[in-house]
Amino acid sequence: MEKKIIVPPYKIKMVEPIKLIDKQERKKKLEEAGFNPFQLRSEDVYIDLLTDSGTGAMSHFQWAALMQGDEAYAGSTSYYRLEETVKQITGYKYVMPVHQGRGAEQVVIPVLVKHPGMVFLSNIHFDTTRAHVELAGARAIDCVCSECFEIDTDHPFKGNFDLVALEEAIKKHKPENVAGIIMTITNNSAGGQPVSLRNMRSVRQIADRYGVKVIIDGARYAENSYFIKQREPEYKNLSIKEIAKRQFDLADIFLMSAKKDGLVNIGGLIAIKDDLELVQKCQIRIVPYEGFPTYGGLAGRDMEALAVGLKEALEEDYLSYRIAEIEYLGTRLKEVGVPIQTPTGGHAVFVDCGKICPHIPYDQFPAQAVCNALYLEGGIRAVEIGSLLLGRNPDTKENLKAEVEFLRLTIPRRTYTFQHFDFIAETFRKVMIKSETIKGLRFIYEAPILRHFTARFKVVE
Ligand code: F0G
Repeated sequence: MEKKIIVPPYKIKMVEPIKLIDKQERKKKLEEAGFNPFQLRSEDVYIDLLTDSGTGAMSHFQWAALMQGDEAYAGSTSYYRLEETVKQITGYKYVMPVHQGRGAEQVVIPVLVKHPGMVFLSNIHFDTTRAHVELAGARAIDCVCSECFEIDTDHPFKGNFDLVALEEAIKKHKPENVAGIIMTITNNSAGGQPVSLRNMRSVRQIADRYGVKVIIDGARYAENSYFIKQREPEYKNLSIKEIAKRQFDLADIFLMSAKKDGLVNIGGLIAIKDDLELVQKCQIRIVPYEGFPTYGGLAGRDMEALAVGLKEALEEDYLSYRIAEIEYLGTRLKEVGVPIQTPTGGHAVFVDCGKICPHIPYDQFPAQAVCNALYLEGGIRAVEIGSLLLGRNPDTKENLKAEVEFLRLTIPRRTYTFQHFDFIAETFRKVMIKSETIKGLRFIYEAPILRHFTARFKVVE
């Protein structure tokens, strides 16, 4: 049989050297980092899988576009070029750039919270989204489908909403207390798992029944569109752009961390379908927090690169390779016995560390412990997406227990090769052999909100 060879739809024009420092050094660096890989210097990391956010490679078209950046404070030509692109993709009337995804959240979320006791409902709120909901005095409730956390179940859309739970939550909290429904596409915290168009349409119908606004948290909307084309048969003949547009038709507001499917190193977007009053309320917050509404914390050149990147991310050959690389890493990891979320999702492979280290209790953060072991073994930096990230109940202050203690191997766009993935799988194989010797962690320092970024730990002996 002919072997299928996956070929990147680009060639490499610029390189950045990486180096594996020796094991003794890695041990020292990890101790200095308080056993928190967020605190490592990137020069001490060999393969950096902390995030896919702002860490990818731009194309030569994007680099060329930087040169036409119009650095005007107000009404920059670059803004209008970006605005036109976003309008074309979303069909929305109003476009406001911001410095990154959480910039969009800090502007929009407080505007939607009209009185105390309000809630947001989502498939799963990303951590900064949850933080902004809580900072605005509201509460974040996740209504994801049950297959989401059954890592061995082969479900095509594990990011979907549990529609019954969603409707029950609206009834329980009363529609007037629901500030919005946030559709996170793809669903980052569940493994970059996609949400189907059918599910999104049902969410819209429920929202309409109760008069609730729908927001797309679309950091990875292009990857979601590709999964819909692959896995939802009725849309297989539509282009990625058409599928993307169908998703936007189902929402009122689009928030985007453009550092993912915008293919840029910095940037974010707010787009609003047609609610001018909402736009005006957002502008009132954009000016003090982000900058004048036609730049929102970005340089003209950043907006130029984004206008090009948004289009490139919707190209099918780009997306098909992007999803294939995640699948390849997943397959290699499975071969060496690593328990992963299947099928693999859009931007990362999620590893179930509760299965690797069942001897470590959830509040000693098994996935963080495996992250550290992976760094020690091969200089690889992964990130914890488990009980450490989930944080504490804002009311009782109890440590929350994650459904699954995930470790995320996040793949930057257009950055690593299949040989890097082979090295990651081989390193993980060695970690698996030693898994019984991996020890839990206890806090030395814990911030009251978004604690995972700055926490320091000691190893539980
Ligand atoms: N929404 C989602 C779904 C995200 O994944 C992120 C960021 C944000 C919002 C916030 O955007 O970082 O530009 O301010 N996710 C990154 C990650 C940080 O590693 O998953 P931001």
